[in-house]
Amino acid sequence: MDKLLVHGGTTLRGAVNISGSKNASLPILAAALLTDEDCIIRRVPDVSDTNYMVQILNALGADVERSSGTVRATCADISDTAPYELVRRMRASICVMGPLLARKRRAVVSLPGGCVIGDRPVDLHLRGLEALGAKVEFEGGNIILTAPDGLRGAEINLSGPLGPTVLGTDNVMMAATLAEGITVIESAAAEPEVLDLANFLNAMGAKIEGAGTSRIVIEGVERLHGVEHTVIPDRIEAGTFMAAAALAGDGVTLRRVCREHLKSITAAIEASGHTVEFNAAGDACTIRRGENLTGCNLVTAPYPGYPTDMQAQMTALLATTPGISVIKDTIFPQRFMHCAELKRMGADIKVDNGTAIVRGVEKLSAAPVMASDLRASAALVLAALTATGTTAINRLYHIDRGYEHIDEKLLMLGAAVERVKE
Ligand code: EPZ
Repeated sequence: MDKLLVHGGTTLRGAVNISGSKNASLPILAAALLTDEDCIIRRVPDVSDTNYMVQILNALGADVERSSGTVRATCADISDTAPYELVRRMRASICVMGPLLARKRRAVVSLPGGCVIGDRPVDLHLRGLEALGAKVEFEGGNIILTAPDGLRGAEINLSGPLGPTVLGTDNVMMAATLAEGITVIESAAAEPEVLDLANFLNAMGAKIEGAGTSRIVIEGVERLHGVEHTVIPDRIEAGTFMAAAALAGDGVTLRRVCREHLKSITAAIEASGHTVEFNAAGDACTIRRGENLTGCNLVTAPYPGYPTDMQAQMTALLATTPGISVIKDTIFPQRFMHCAELKRMGADIKVDNGTAIVRGVEKLSAAPVMASDLRASAALVLAALTATGTTAINRLYHIDRGYEHIDEKLLMLGAAVERVKE
């Protein structure tokens, strides 16, 4: 297992290109299952999660080629059963369920396990697909969905106790594209990645309106055709590098970003005293560390609120920001694994009932720390950038799931990091 050694104290300068969005790529790759024609998808980040999805498409019988950031997928003759061995390794595989059901009228996908950020139920996904006419059964750890007479449009409310569901909205929207009649999804997730998927589906010939809002209307069509599409920039990778620049930078520029998607993250970085300047096109921004820093309060919320996927990274930034910060995660109340590790580095954080109370300290100090999930690992890398000494971050595979060549990008900015194979 690789680990990352981060020698703290260097200053980040220069510019870095942000990759295509992992969380837009995964459902879009799954959506290729809805047609037997060629789908060309550009700017798919080379991370293990997208590689798993490519392997799943292959295992389903698709003809998939990947050359650098471009994936060509042709799902002509496919099976209705997703391979357990691959699905168990990535929860987001659940988003093949809707396309398989719509295309094959049957889908067998293993129930995803939980993970360190919390229980990951799929009850809302199943509520939506059942409303479209699917019969839901469970056998041997698998979900078995059948709709021998095809799917029919329905009015569906996808709201759950902790807000809307992103992949649940994706699954129902994809299935509804080939259902007979009109489907209305109320309390839909409005994340930019859902809109990117809807744009991909509409380019395939689907009839979707309202994506990117909480009410999506889908008029079913007979069939969908092949398409070429470029995935939107990864707003969470961009936010992560914004936090790195605020922590350890002296004017760092991020290219290939989308200002619209970064509003709540930009607001949080500025609220703690740093400056973010976008160019006129809104596709690049320069972050400058502030002089008068201050703690701030954050509550995660569905888009356009502050993203839960940026909660750990902001906690790392606030750990050495003067003052008290209160960070509440309303979406994944258990998503605080990074705090124990940050405390090993000297952070002053109290976690209670889905809230972290952070008292900024002068400096963190290096310690061997353990990555636990994708965004917690990124938070540890950020903390290590300014910590005194060399921090060893173990289980680097967590980071490689969702950040494309993060060590190389940090090296380009002047960070003293090295990947060590064990
Ligand atoms: C997506 O996961 C993202 N993953 C997650 O990013 C992100 O944290 C999450 O949305 C929230 O924004 C991808 O897009 C691949 P949800 P998803 O369904 O869709 C509850 C990362 O770091 N819920 O929106 O699986 C659930 O427990 C990853 O890139 C139900 O109760 O999340 C959670 O509390 C981590 N029943 C809330 O809803 C369901 O059927 C939001 O979950 C589904 C979800």
